[in-house]
Parts: sequence; structure tokens; C-alpha cells
Amino acid sequence: MLKALDPPVGSLDEFVRQVLPADILSSRDLKIDGPAIRTKDGDQGRFSKEGFTESQLLARLRDIASGNKVLRSYIGCGYAGTRVPEVIKRNVLESPGWYTSYTPYQPEISQGRLESLLNFQTMVCDLTGLSISNASVLDEATAAAEAMTLSMNALPAARQRRPKKVYLVSHLCHPQTIAVLESRASGFGITIEVGDVLANDGKLVEDVGEDLVGVLVQYPDTEGGVEDFKGLSEKIHNLKATFCVATDLLALTVLTPPGEFGADVAFGNAQRFGVPFGYGGPHAAFFACSEKHKRKIPGRLIGLSKDRLGDKAARLALQTREQHIRREKATSNICTAQALLANMSAFYAVYHGPKGLQTIAHRVIAAARVVEEGVRRLGYSTGRGGDNRVLFDTVLVEADAKQITDWAVKNKQMNLRIFDEKHVGITVDETVNIEDIEDILDVFAHFKGDRSPSVDELAKDIGVTASSAPSDIPPALRRTSRFLTHPVFNSHHSETELLRYIHHLQSKDLSLTHSMIPLGSCTMKLNSTTEMIPISWPEFSSIHPFVPTDQAKGYNTLINELEKDLAEITGFHAVSLQPNSGAQGEFTGLRIIRKYLEEQPGKKRDICLIPVSAHGTNPASAAMAGMRVVTIKCENGTGNLDMKDLKTKCEKYSEELGAIMITYPSTFGVFEPKVKEACELVHKHGGQVYMDGANMNAQIGLCSPGEIGADVCHLNLHKTFCIPHGGGGPGVGPVGVAEHLAPFLPGHPLVKTGGEKAIAPISGAPWGSASILPISWAYIKMMGGLGLTHATKITLLNANYILSRLRPHYPILYTNEKGRCAHEFILDVRKFKESAGVEAIDVAKRLQDYGFHAPTMSWPVANTLMIEPTESESQGELDRFCDALISIRKEIEAVEKGEQPKEGNVLKMAPHSQKDLLVGEWDRPYTREKAAYPLPWLKEKKFWPSVTRLDDGEYSTP
Ligand SMILES: Cc1ncc(COP(=O)(O)O)c(C=O)c1O
Repeated sequence: MLKALDPPVGSLDEFVRQVLPADILSSRDLKIDGPAIRTKDGDQGRFSKEGFTESQLLARLRDIASGNKVLRSYIGCGYAGTRVPEVIKRNVLESPGWYTSYTPYQPEISQGRLESLLNFQTMVCDLTGLSISNASVLDEATAAAEAMTLSMNALPAARQRRPKKVYLVSHLCHPQTIAVLESRASGFGITIEVGDVLANDGKLVEDVGEDLVGVLVQYPDTEGGVEDFKGLSEKIHNLKATFCVATDLLALTVLTPPGEFGADVAFGNAQRFGVPFGYGGPHAAFFACSEKHKRKIPGRLIGLSKDRLGDKAARLALQTREQHIRREKATSNICTAQALLANMSAFYAVYHGPKGLQTIAHRVIAAARVVEEGVRRLGYSTGRGGDNRVLFDTVLVEADAKQITDWAVKNKQMNLRIFDEKHVGITVDETVNIEDIEDILDVFAHFKGDRSPSVDELAKDIGVTASSAPSDIPPALRRTSRFLTHPVFNSHHSETELLRYIHHLQSKDLSLTHSMIPLGSCTMKLNSTTEMIPISWPEFSSIHPFVPTDQAKGYNTLINELEKDLAEITGFHAVSLQPNSGAQGEFTGLRIIRKYLEEQPGKKRDICLIPVSAHGTNPASAAMAGMRVVTIKCENGTGNLDMKDLKTKCEKYSEELGAIMITYPSTFGVFEPKVKEACELVHKHGGQVYMDGANMNAQIGLCSPGEIGADVCHLNLHKTFCIPHGGGGPGVGPVGVAEHLAPFLPGHPLVKTGGEKAIAPISGAPWGSASILPISWAYIKMMGGLGLTHATKITLLNANYILSRLRPHYPILYTNEKGRCAHEFILDVRKFKESAGVEAIDVAKRLQDYGFHAPTMSWPVANTLMIEPTESESQGELDRFCDALISIRKEIEAVEKGEQPKEGNVLKMAPHSQKDLLVGEWDRPYTREKAAYPLPWLKEKKFWPSVTRLDDGEYSTP
């Protein structure tokens, strides 16, 4: 491959020197602990530089996992036990057909997951009683933050300008939700007020008056109560504020949906729909709103459209209103969400259907009722006074909380929730059986020196059965409307039917199981199966996020080791794994910077410099952190930072300069030669340097943000560190920081994390999406320091190999002075518009006929294609891809020469589905064979787009 480069080069190291600027090349070797070396004296203390083999790794992970104790957890607080249907676990969660696909920006080869995400949205709309739902957000707590910013956005302009803006939050919301709201509110100048919103007929709402942005309640609330909010909702609307409801999908199968009592927004955690605890994540949060807010809803939305043949097809709707467009005007930075988990939850609903879900809910209520009655008979008071019955899954018991919970752990291997010194909580779920209820009652009986009452008798006495609806739900709170009436939720209730449905959808989607996905900036590498094995182990998947930390010692080991290795890789002092996406990492890093700067003397430093080439989440995150965005130009010819412009802006804003955000290598695919100079300049003017490390794939072992001079950097573990893309999530976006910023790493209200001056949490769970951390840990450990560094070199080589093969056929937009790119490059197809009427989208769609996903289209430069092969592709696959693009170039040439018409040619009509080629007359200026099999190997290895071209605009981003 080195010989095939243009110009050829003698060695890999010489090649690396041609790619990276000399002044950033690191001279240190990465120190990643490998397997212990056993000497003849039995010494196991020394560690090898080589990575673990697959079997060594699994053995070590088994050992780590054994440090986690899997107890029954009835802690609740937004997370509930669930039975993951095995058919979904094996065929979705553990299936690369689902977990390696990309965000469905190319609908013709994504109809399967688009349909499944549409099912997710339909399920959320039906259950919440609201008309618009998105295809998932990160977690319930961040969904609350999104609801708050939507509320602010929905205020009349004059109200938005008021000096005081109050978001009122019920004291009965989950504590982690309130904490995350605090972290998000500050950047928008919103004050969070927490209180009893129903007291005195909603007096708190009236007191806030015109300052009110919105109100958030939890339904059912964190203590298990279920209230009627109809009156409150009217009060809120009279003040033109937004009513937001955090809720539970299972509860909504029996309780009045929020949309029917006036909620404008409803959101929550879909985890109990078939996604295990995972020590806090990942799972899909859902977010729904009323029609009037449809243009303000954050995240991705799937809608229905038609293809060229007029057939119905799904696509991402309104995609140009993602944060990438709104940039510094953004109120949300959500990009990666939780697509894979949303699919799991959607399949869970498809499998159980409306009746099955309601039966599960009835079982849960029956269990809660029996627990409640049992503890009452043992002499405990339940609830916060009054004689109301539990209406859903949580029983609050007055008791010595510490004593009870400790005893339950020790003697019954069971976690209950401590509300406060005198209150214990028990949240039951679909996994709870009679023996579990007996064990719960035994705990309470023990402290009364009594025997626990019989579960059967209790049930009989209070008239509940495992499958009937409780008849005493007050009419205002009882669900009467139908839900999940669509045939998809009423057809696949047997394993056979569901399995076939899952595979039917999967067969419509192109994923890494078919071919490389060369998406610039997205690093779509194929990870090893071994890395995926541990995520299904109960020791990692079945741990509630708020268990006492001595039950999660295995996690603790793994997290510490991963943080240490990431600190080593980035050249930083400390790392937080809390953020659950890259954009969340950006927001975290910027908030850390702000908090640090607030402690420094002088003026408020809130200017954030961002180059034009930056990913849209950068300015969005800066705006959310309350910073003012100032754009820095890039040079036309090279794509490098315009140092003159940077200098001018640094001088102009010297006293207010807070930070610069630099993506390295830049999103133009080049290592800026003057990056160190840029860092020094910003530091000289009192600012901090934020490095967007989403492109870390090009740096590991060769250079590092810390050594370059950055103060903070986020990584995308779902790119560089092998967490698969999942069709649009999950992700993990850790932040690494220099020593002076370490005290500010994010904390958590329920579990000790972060530094001594910790900023408020960014995610609901202390370690965000903890259960997928073993994937990245395993990747790093198997590669070892040497392997990681070698992988970076191959990343650079693969990109330059493609570049060299394509350069004779296509213009390349930016390279360095040696003609080299970094790990990705931009293929410039703009001139073909003039010469052949062909645009980037035509090339992208035609690539589908060749069995490839398009590169990143029209970002960061309009009407171009950005190619990133990653190190995980073989030369053979790179050649297939190059052959396809060269063949497409010839097709363009045929149009240029007038051999093919400008309209209706094979590019303009691409992609071709089977129906397109088989049904009806053929009157095109090219053959069917040319359409389907333009290169010989396609006859053997063909992926068929399931629909013809949809009009998906000109926009697609990572
Ligand atoms: C350069 C860059 N920065 C930030 C992000 C945002 O990361 P995430 O999608 O995980 O929020 C991306 C996402 O693709 C990216 O390419």
C-alpha cells in the first residue's frame, strides 16, 4: 500500500512524518497495562506492552465482572427491572446487522431501522397522548433539560427577554433529573425553583407569574404518587408557559396519558421496555410534544414520504433543523441519541402488544398493592399520609431506612431505596414474582419480630389478581383511550413472528456486515465480536445505577482502568466517563472551563472562538454553556485555521476570551500545522483550549491533545474506541482535562463522582452509559499501546491509499503541502454539476447500487463527499470501494461526453430497487444490467436498496 501511494513512500514511519506536523509528533510510547507477565518466581506484577489475546481478555473480564454483585434491585428512581425478550436480545442487541448500522440519513438502504424507529415514535405518541415524538434522546434527565429549553423557546419573544426566567420543578421529580436541570439552566439564564407545585391550588405557579418559563412534574412521581394535574395545567397555560411531564410508559397503559390532561411535553425513560439496567445506561429516553411545538422538538424525527415510484417510504423528517443548522442559536446539541435501544423498546412493544403491556402493568400494580397491604398489616405506615392506595409500582414505607436497606442487602440480596432517614421505597417491576414479594415482606417483618403475611391471602383479601385492572383507580386518572392500535403492534406476538419481523426489517438495511461505511468524521469501524460479549453478562447489564458502590466493585475497576488509559492516550490528568454522547462531552468540557474561569480574577470570560469548519454541535454546546460564539475563518486553499483572523479575534476579545474549540485533525481532514501556535495564542489571551477529539482515531499514539496544548478534550468512544454506531446511538463522550480543571469534573447527587468542586451532573447516571464501557475497555486492552499506535498509522494509510487511487479521477479538496490527508479527506464533486448535471447526492445514491453507503455528504463543504475508511478495512475492501467510485466517474464522463442524457441517466435514477428493474416496461437509456451490476463482483455480492430515491434534500451529517 505504501508503494501505491502518490507519491510512493518507503516506510510507514516515513509516511507518518509526511502526514503529521513535526512539532506535534509525540516521542512517548503509550503505557497501557497488558496482561500480567508470569515469571518463574510467580511474579505477576509486571505488565506486557502487548495487548490481551481474546481469550485472555475474556478471562480478565470475567474476573472483573465477578466484582459486581447482582442483587435484586427495587430502587426505582426512574429505572425498573425488565425481562429482555431473548429473541430481541440475540437478534437486535447482539446482532451486528442492527448494532453496526449508521444513522438512517440514506433512507433507501435504511428502511428497516426507519420503520422500527417509527414504531418507537408511534408507541410514544400513543402512550403519552401527544401527537409528535422523536426517535429517542439520551436519558430521562437530559430529556428534562430538553423540555426546559423547549419551554423557553416557546415563550413569546418579550418573555424570553425578561431578566428573570423561572422553570418550576416539582419536588417529587427524581433527584438526578433536578440536578441535571440545574446544570443546563445556568447557560440559559434560567432559575430552577423546586417546590410543591400542587400545594394551595398551584399557588407557586401563580407566585412566579410572568417569569414562568414552564413547569415540570413527575407522573407517577418519585415516591409513587399519582396526581391529577388538570387544574395545574390550566394555570400554567393561562400564564402562556409550557407544561412538561416526566412519565413512565408502562404506567401510561393504565393511567390517563399526559396529553389528555394538558401536557405540552411528555418524556421519560423507555428502559423498562426491554432494556436492562446497565448500571445506568444506555437506554432510550423518549420525548413527545403537542403539534404546536413540532418545529422545536429536539433530536431526530422519522416521517413518511414517497420514493420515485410513488411507494411509501420512511425518512428522517425535518433533518435540516437538527442542531447542525441552528449552530449558535441552538437550544439543543443532541446528535448521537439512543437508536439501538429505541429499537429494542419498540420491538418489546411490538412483541407484547397493547394487551400484553397492560397485563404487565396490572401485574406490577398487583405486586405493589400486595407489598403495600403486607407492610401495613405489619404495622408500618405507607405513603405520605392519607389512606390512598398505591396506583402504580412504588410503595413508600415509614421505617428506619438505613437499618432496613442494610438488612435487605445482607439477608435477602435485595436493594431498596433510601428516601430519607425515615422513609424506604420499594419499586416493583415485571420480574417480581411471589417469592420476591415474600422476601420483601420478610424484611419488614423482621424488624417487627413478626412473620410476614401470606401473599396469596393478601391478594385475595384486597381483591387483586396478577392480570386484572385495579378497579379503584379514580376516573380522572384512569386511562380510557385506546393505544397501539396499529397492526404492527397486534401481529407479532409469537417468537416466530417477531423473529421474522426483526429479520425482515434488518434485510432492508445496509450495515458494516455488508461493506465498509466510509463516512467522514463518523469513524464507522467494525469492532470485534469479543468486545461485544460482556455487555450481555448480567454482572454488567443487571446492575441498577444507584446500588451501593460496594456492589459495583467490578465496574469500579473497569472504570478506573478505562479512565487511566484514556488519560494516557489523551495526555491529560483526569477523565470523566459521565457524558453519554460527544456533544454532551462538549457541553461538559465547556461548563468545566466556565466554572474554572469564574474563579479567575478579571472580566467575565464568555467568548468562545469556533472555526467555520467545526461540527455543528460545537457552537450549539457553546451556546448552551452560556457562551458567545465568534467564528474563526479557515483558509480557502488549505482548510487550515486562518491564523491572522484568529490573532485579530484574540486581540479584540482579549479580556473576555473564554475558550477556543478546535477539532483536530480538522473536519477538513488535515492536521493543522499551526495548532500549537493557536493554543499558545489563546492561552496568552487568557482563554482555555477545548479540543474536539471526535477525530482521535488519527491521533492515538502519535500525538495527543495534552501535549499539543489543549486543556480539555472530549472523545467519542462510539467512534474511535469501537462502540458500534447502533444506527444513531448509543454513545459515550468522555472528557479529559488538564490538572487545573480536574477539580471541576462532573458530580452526581446520589453517587460520589467527579472532583471536589464538581459541576452539576450532565447525565442522569453517575457514569452515563456504563454498560457499554466494557467495549472500549476491551478494545484498548486487546490492542495494547503498540496496537493502538499501529492502528492510527493504518487509519492514516488507508485514507491516503484511497486518496491516491482516486486523485487521477476526482479533485481532492484539502491536503497538506506533501499532498497527504489525515484520516479522512474531501472528494470534490462540485464541478460535475456544470459538466454533467451530477451532484454529490447522485454519486451518493449511485454508490448504493454498488453496495456501499455514501460518504458524509455536503459536510463540512456543500456538495462534496467526505471519506473516512478507518483502520478496520482491508486493502481488498478499499479497492472495491475505489473501483466503485472510479466506475461512477466513468458514468459521469459518459454524460459529459453526451453518450448519456443529463436527465434520466443511471446516476440520476439511482438507486435501483428490484421493483424498479423488474416491474413494467424498460425505456431507459441504460440497461437493467448496467443499473444493478455495474461491476462484475456485484453479481455475486449484491445489496438491494429496498426503495428508489427519496427526496432527502441536500443534507447529511455524521
Ligand atoms: C467532529 C465531531 N464533533 C462532535 C460530534 C458530536 O458527537 P455526538 O454525535 O456523539 O454527539 C461529532 C459527531 O459526529 C463529530 O463528528
